[in-house]
Amino acid sequence: MTEDFAARRASARRRLDAIDPARRGDLSDPYRRGWFRAVYDMADDDPACVPWADLEPHPLLADWLAAQDVAGLRALDVGCGLGDNAEALASKGASTIAFDLSSAAIEWARRRFPASRVDYRVADLFDAPADWRGGFDLVHECYTLQALPALLLAQAAQSLARFLAPGGRLLVIARAREDGAPPSGPPWPLSSREMEAIAAPGLAMSSIEALTSSGEARHWRAIFQRPA
Ligand SMILES: C[S@@+](CC[C@H](N)C(=O)[O-])C[C@H]1O[C@@H](n2cnc3c(N)ncnc32)[C@H](O)[C@@H]1O
Repeated sequence: MTEDFAARRASARRRLDAIDPARRGDLSDPYRRGWFRAVYDMADDDPACVPWADLEPHPLLADWLAAQDVAGLRALDVGCGLGDNAEALASKGASTIAFDLSSAAIEWARRRFPASRVDYRVADLFDAPADWRGGFDLVHECYTLQALPALLLAQAAQSLARFLAPGGRLLVIARAREDGAPPSGPPWPLSSREMEAIAAPGLAMSSIEALTSSGEARHWRAIFQRPA
């Protein structure tokens, strides 16, 4: 990150924090849709103004994909933002749909990757197209769960689980919080209990790793599987 990029990001963060009710503890709109849309609408095509846009796949996804054969799998990237994670899935041969509730994010991702094989769509995790139900072998979500308050985690887990075909896997990457530590956010890093609860809608947690990527805070990388 250049100094100039870092300065633009810091200034955007200040602007975005100022219009984020959740920053003031106001969760009257727990879905935070207006704020997510505002992030992309206000960015004016500058990725520095999208706080989570690293312009590369998340290292924990890239590292996981390096050891996996996902060719031919039907993959879904949830809350895809500017598309780097979806592109990583597609570059390994997964037939990938990626969605975000922000139409500006989806148009931006399409512009960034004009020759992409990813099918970018505007959609809402909590009101997804009915024909996605049971339609995916691999569902990936990075940083969207932690951007939602704890009161929505069970509903979000239900929505994620619904996408899985029998035997399908859900890969979750999120910042980690110690059990017992009070949630503080947004974003709200997840405790191990919150991670385990993602399995509640009939999934089995097949692995969970606590990892540190590129000098960052501790992260979870967990796989949940729908029984075959
Ligand atoms: C913290 S960002 C993470 C973006 C991306 N996954 C990444 O790792 O860079 C969360 C993303 O989820 C999107 N999002 C939030 N709520 C959503 C919902 N209900 N349905 C679809 N996308 C949502 C936001 O617009 C945003 O792009």
